[in-house]
Amino acid sequence: MNKRHERWNTHNLGRQHTEKTASLTIPVMFLLTGQGGWLVSLVLLAVYPQDLILGQWAQPSLLASVHLFTLGFLTMTVMGILHQLVPVTLNAKPWSTPIVSIQYGLMATGTLLFSIGFLSDQPLLLIPGALGVSLGILYFVGLILYSVRHAQNHPFHSLFIQSSLGYLAVTVILGFTLAWNYAYDLGLSSSFLVAHIAVAAEGFAVFLLMGLSYKLSIMFFPSKGSPRHGIWIFYLLHTAVILELLAGLTRWHLVTIGVILFAIVSGLYIWDMAYIWHMRRNSYPDPVLFTIGLGTVSFTALWILLGLWALFPSDSHLFSAAVFIGFEGWFGLSILGYSQKILPFVLWLHRYSHVHGQGKVPRLNEIFPEDWSWHIMVLAGSGLILSTGGLILSEKALFLTGLLILLGGVLRMHFASWRAILRRPVHRENLPKNLRRRIFNF
Ligand code: HEM
Repeated sequence: MNKRHERWNTHNLGRQHTEKTASLTIPVMFLLTGQGGWLVSLVLLAVYPQDLILGQWAQPSLLASVHLFTLGFLTMTVMGILHQLVPVTLNAKPWSTPIVSIQYGLMATGTLLFSIGFLSDQPLLLIPGALGVSLGILYFVGLILYSVRHAQNHPFHSLFIQSSLGYLAVTVILGFTLAWNYAYDLGLSSSFLVAHIAVAAEGFAVFLLMGLSYKLSIMFFPSKGSPRHGIWIFYLLHTAVILELLAGLTRWHLVTIGVILFAIVSGLYIWDMAYIWHMRRNSYPDPVLFTIGLGTVSFTALWILLGLWALFPSDSHLFSAAVFIGFEGWFGLSILGYSQKILPFVLWLHRYSHVHGQGKVPRLNEIFPEDWSWHIMVLAGSGLILSTGGLILSEKALFLTGLLILLGGVLRMHFASWRAILRRPVHRENLPKNLRRRIFNF
């Protein structure tokens, strides 16, 4: 076998070194599809910018874009991360590829049909789509909770992840009822949507991101600091979500108390993250950590914008900008950052950890070079700032420019991910300097 083939073989997709990790195909397919979901949701926002700028919620394009982002990107990516992370961190046995592939298929086709159903106003697509998503999610929750039940250790962040999965299951029940109501008008009160948003955004997504960041930030920064308010956050956030859920289902006036509790939780969490950042061992300017840091700054910006909106309630742009920066900034940039650490780590684990010590193996930054992370950070960060500015000022041109730059950042990540998965590592010291090579290594 010649050298080129030998090298190619060590990069064989799906090669697995240990029984403790899921097949490489699993995180890879979830991650790539998730990035695709985010790209399509941004394209929809760019095609119909007016809905968000004018704060006209419940429009088909906005509903499709929200769910492509939350289900297609956020949930999909996190599923890939958890299928990989749960067996490793909880010392549980991973699920086989065919079992997880069925779950992936349900989720991917369900999300696609669901979104097209919103756009085309076609119940025959919306309802099967909602059913596919619901089954895919319940199947996933079942698989992960089963692994957690049989796990040999239960670290602190797993409480957050389990709570998040519990709320995801409730989200599916409320979401499916809403979808039925959307298509066939069951006469549900509009406050039902508050219950859905409370369990989906605050219950599922916030618990999940907080749990993941408590685990991953300490690991990746790396930091000597650990969360000081985790247990307070855990109970207060549960109380906030349950109060808002009750408010949505019964129309009792509990939303304000829920939002105040959520504001306190957010303050404690930002404090914890600032402490973890401050206590980091590595002061080297790492673009991935900046991307994750920008995500947490976006979360702070969300609360500042909500505070301003409370002072000037007639200015609905502030509310749109707050929701936008919360979703695209906190959820989006944080997951973008974590994926840039997780993807090369997973590739390394599968391809090289079993031959580590027997010869030269690539470093993580040769699998996913730092230049790529700088491109992604600059594009995604500046795009987010410009598009949020465009929403605050209600300037369509500025919003669209920012959105396209943000889209460029996500595209760069998608391209870089394929490059890392399919090709051999970039050995910086041997890089020929000609233009063709430079373009090839971009
Ligand atoms: C997983 C996380 C989810 C999040 C964060 C989320 C978030 C949201 C948000 C913010 C809205 C309001 C959007 C707007 O008014 O423009 C909404 C509406 C809606 N969601 Fe979800 N959702 C999630 C999952 C689901 C699922 C799994 C389903 C169905 C199976 C679903 C079905 C619906 C429906 C039908 C509406 C429209 C309700 C109406 O306007 O009558 N959602 N969701």
